[in-house]
Amino acid sequence: MTNTHFFATAAKGTESLVARELIAIGARNIRTTVGGVHFEGELETLYRANLWLQTANRVLMPIAEFACPNPQALYENVRNVRWRDWMTVDTTFAVDCNCRDSQISHSHYAALKIKDAIVDRFRDEMGRRPNVDRRQPMLPVNAHIAKDRCVLSLDASGDRLHRRGYRRQATDAPLRETLAAAIVGLVEWDNEGMFIDPMCGSGTIVIEATLKAMNHAPGLLRCGYDGSGQVGFGFQRWRNFDKKLWGRLTDEARHGVRERIPGRLLGYDISRPAIHIASENAKLAGLERHVRFMRGDALKLSPRGNRGVIVCNLPYGERTGEVEELKSLYTGFGNVLKQRCAGYTAYLFTGNLKLAKWIGLRTAKRFTLYNGPIECRLLKYELF
Ligand SMILES: C[S@@+](CC[C@H](N)C(=O)[O-])C[C@H]1O[C@@H](n2cnc3c(N)ncnc32)[C@H](O)[C@@H]1O
Repeated sequence: MTNTHFFATAAKGTESLVARELIAIGARNIRTTVGGVHFEGELETLYRANLWLQTANRVLMPIAEFACPNPQALYENVRNVRWRDWMTVDTTFAVDCNCRDSQISHSHYAALKIKDAIVDRFRDEMGRRPNVDRRQPMLPVNAHIAKDRCVLSLDASGDRLHRRGYRRQATDAPLRETLAAAIVGLVEWDNEGMFIDPMCGSGTIVIEATLKAMNHAPGLLRCGYDGSGQVGFGFQRWRNFDKKLWGRLTDEARHGVRERIPGRLLGYDISRPAIHIASENAKLAGLERHVRFMRGDALKLSPRGNRGVIVCNLPYGERTGEVEELKSLYTGFGNVLKQRCAGYTAYLFTGNLKLAKWIGLRTAKRFTLYNGPIECRLLKYELF
């Protein structure tokens, strides 16, 4: 494959982090837009992106772009794609579509039209049709329709990249692994000193920080993972899958894992089941020697030394009663930071901007991130 255009989808607010990760893997012509990052490279770049990107949701490879002012134009243009370059009649596929600001406004209807066009092309040429498998398609097809133009892509990731494979169990309100990685990406930690999450839940932030500190490609975890029913990545089921190249890249990634981290990574939670789950997740990720999860009350936190970061995702409650109760947690935790954590830098993530005021400390920086549809803040505090 020669120089090709790819697109990494990303949650709003994380695009520049994804761009930074793409620079690190040698992608070219990187261009951010809302909801993702365009980049160019070869097959190797595509494989590296899936293996190494921590924050992106999926990596797409556009294969056609055309005007689709009406359903017939959509159908004709999809039918004209050389599908046999990418699949055989025995390849199962599924179409995922999103529409915006277009004459064709129903995503489900557009997906059906695209499916019909693919099926009809095979039936006319070969007398047989490929089957749709919505749950575990061999070839997931993605269509993005905006302003009456359609970009048709193959989904190289298959399953979304946040499914690393280590989180079989989760506590209430777990962060997506990719969002936790975005938080870790914004935290300035030098891999030395302490990294503490005092309200760790299922341990996602600490685990993502450990992977980063160890230079451990998140995609390596997925290589042998079949929790979702499928092993690995979408591109491994493509006709042009280069097993030798993929083997070289995964070997190289395995050899690059740092076995020693100078700093210490710790997670605490008041809930015993949460600590059990976080420890199990760390074990599944193969990180149990590098992290520790212990039961503890954040309001009694008294970290050792005076160097490191405190990073946590505070509960933000949905019902009014819960929010009232949480005010004292925010105020109490703010006092703990002020009185017992001098020298540290704290990064608090919350989806409730009103509650954030109850921390009572002056923010040094604030970042806007989205947890699904919820607008959240990562607040940085320098603790003197
Ligand atoms: C929003 S969840 C964290 C989710 C986590 N980031 C994850 O990805 O799974 C908040 C956590 O704070 C914990 N928590 C609440 N009050 C606490 C306290 N006083 N001390 C320690 N943990 C507390 C809860 O048990 C819960 O697991």
